[in-house]
Amino acid sequence: MKQADLIWMNGELVAWEDAKVHVLTHALHYGTGVFEGVRAYDTPRGTAIFRHADHIDRLFRSAGMYLMDIPYTREELRAATHETIQRNNLKSCYIRPLVFRGAGPMGLFPLDSPVEVTIAVWEWGAYLGDEGKRLGVRGKVSSFRRISSNAVIPAAKATGQYVNSVLAKIEASKAGYEEAILLDDRGMVCEGSGENLFVVKDGVIATPGFAADILGGINRSSVITIARDLGYELVERDIARGELYLADEVFLTGTAAEIVPVREIDGRAVGVGPVTASIRAAYDDVVHGRDPRFAAWLDPVRAVATPA
Ligand SMILES: Cc1ncc(COP(=O)(O)O)c(C=O)c1O
Repeated sequence: MKQADLIWMNGELVAWEDAKVHVLTHALHYGTGVFEGVRAYDTPRGTAIFRHADHIDRLFRSAGMYLMDIPYTREELRAATHETIQRNNLKSCYIRPLVFRGAGPMGLFPLDSPVEVTIAVWEWGAYLGDEGKRLGVRGKVSSFRRISSNAVIPAAKATGQYVNSVLAKIEASKAGYEEAILLDDRGMVCEGSGENLFVVKDGVIATPGFAADILGGINRSSVITIARDLGYELVERDIARGELYLADEVFLTGTAAEIVPVREIDGRAVGVGPVTASIRAAYDDVVHGRDPRFAAWLDPVRAVATPA
């Protein structure tokens, strides 16, 4: 992670060091925030944000599920993101919009606390490491089950919900693995701590559906489209833990991680194979603007006037 110069905070750009909040910020105490992870890529048409509208839509949906009214329009947040990337002079970057309950009345009832919005951008390489991206990561099935929709709202990308991923990530990391794989509360395979999961067996690709309490990943949906476009059969269905050990290939998808093969699960080797490689090659072409058929997924960063 490389620090940038400016962060957009409640309508203005402030120095990275000055983007601060009060200690009584509601979201700090109770996790009442929602966020997005987005990437912008260097393309032949300049810097372009991948599936920007879909990320902004998910941000609004997440906020809506927690009854937070975002005090900006979709277009205002889009323009603010363009401006933040430009003013930081970044050709490619990770983008982190955050909507959270600020300092207001203390106590669990959140609806009287102000809603604040920030957008940070920074250069961020391979989330699970360059070697992991190339050769595959080692995954461990977590003893922590994925949060269920009987307790919270797994479809919302809400900050407080991420203590679940954090616990799983710590456990996997302390055991010497790069990533945790969480089962849902029924014991079926759900996803990684910050990625969706796909299994390849006999040429057919499977990924858990929404009944498994997944986060509806935007890269998951991109990969489903790309894989079908490449001619693969792809099904959304429940996946039993044992299938992980029998799979020909397993891979993870997410905005931060992109597409990462899993080369070992719970000490059992998994092949890093041609299906993952071909989907990843096609995906790389799409995000870098080399496949004109998917140009609509790219939001080119427009010129914005720089204040005198
Ligand atoms: C828990 C979880 N699942 C899945 C994903 C993948 O989602 P996306 O492809 O939209 O980045 C993420 C990443 O944001 C995540 O945090």
